[in-house]
Amino acid sequence: MKVGVLRERVPGEQRVALLPEGVKRLQERGFTVVVEAGAGLGSFTPDKAYEEAGATLRATAQEVLAAVDIVLTLHMPSEAELAQWPQQKALVGILQAWRFPRAVEVLAQKGWTVYALERLPRITRAQSMDVLSSMAALAGYKAVLLAANHFVRVFPMLTTAAGTLTPARVLVIGAGVAGLQAIATARRLGAQVEGYDIRPAAKEQVESLGAKFLPLTLDGRGEGAGGYARELTPEEQARQREALAAYVARADIVITTAAVPGRPAPKLITADMRKAMKPGSVIVDLAAETGGNCEETRPGETQTLEGVTLIAPLNLPATLPVHASQMLSRNFTEFLGLFGRKAEAPRLHTEDEILRVTCILWQGQSTLQPA
Ligand code: NAI
Repeated sequence: MKVGVLRERVPGEQRVALLPEGVKRLQERGFTVVVEAGAGLGSFTPDKAYEEAGATLRATAQEVLAAVDIVLTLHMPSEAELAQWPQQKALVGILQAWRFPRAVEVLAQKGWTVYALERLPRITRAQSMDVLSSMAALAGYKAVLLAANHFVRVFPMLTTAAGTLTPARVLVIGAGVAGLQAIATARRLGAQVEGYDIRPAAKEQVESLGAKFLPLTLDGRGEGAGGYARELTPEEQARQREALAAYVARADIVITTAAVPGRPAPKLITADMRKAMKPGSVIVDLAAETGGNCEETRPGETQTLEGVTLIAPLNLPATLPVHASQMLSRNFTEFLGLFGRKAEAPRLHTEDEILRVTCILWQGQSTLQPA
């Protein structure tokens, strides 16, 4: 099978789905690789490096699309781009398909088979393909650096001849992959760190990183299907905000990462809660992509609200394009490895559990059960 790698077109995107090391690995598995010129430039990978690894270069996306069976992308292409795409090929990407139903419709009309990697099951065998975990780890790390950069004080306790500086108090809400990496990074910088999540399993993980887990209780289980959090009812959310308010007020830095797959991010920090924070404090809302955990979040913007900086970054992993692309390249390569040593297209989307769960269109037909 021939695999195509496109230059990403979303503004600010620096990452690429496959690096030359991935080209080599795919070739060993029987694939051939065609790359759009300039695809790796944002990750400091010149076209020549792809050619040296054995890929064929093509000048335009159209030429790549015409030459391959399967295309790798990091984002769902726009409807306008898809209108130019050929018929009946396969797409693998971090497509966030639930946010782009009209684009999925275009792909269906064109008879495409589509694998949406955000749907990967959180099982051991899928770990090496887990694009969300890879990117969440980078986002969690970078969120702390952003916070430190905007913070008006230092993170660690510093004992100097000019006196002792107190450490910053960091609260991380949502202790999944991003949250745990944020906790670890803030700890490394010497902050006093607290973590919170509605999944009880998170307590041990937070504590193993040397942070304190907030002693908040929730009626009923916070865990839903597949080990993910469930969406809380409006009453539960209101009670949660009430319980969190005092902890948010005393924190210098709040990093929010709470998400429920396929749903808008839960609103955890109201304007009143932010107003109770000390001037000079910083909130980094990593859930901005799906609407944000803070009532006042404006996705992609940094606001200063009565002395509190509220940062709502989008696509933070794109700011670390080299390591992000390195991780993605490995994730995509491992996923394509499911197609077998002979690198043949699966005959059915049900052939493998991971393919079954990620496949949202099979030759133009929706494979999803109606909700
Ligand atoms: P995510 O990005 O979907 O959500 C981030 C965090 O927000 C989660 O920990 C979630 O419990 C929490 N959250 C949701 N609503 C909340 C609320 N109202 N208040 C406070 N916290 C809230 O999660 P992520 O990072 O994708 O991880 C999800 C699960 O998958 C975790 O249990 C993680 O340990 C597990 N996982 C398993 C892997 C594997 O075994 N292959 C790989 C990666 C993650």
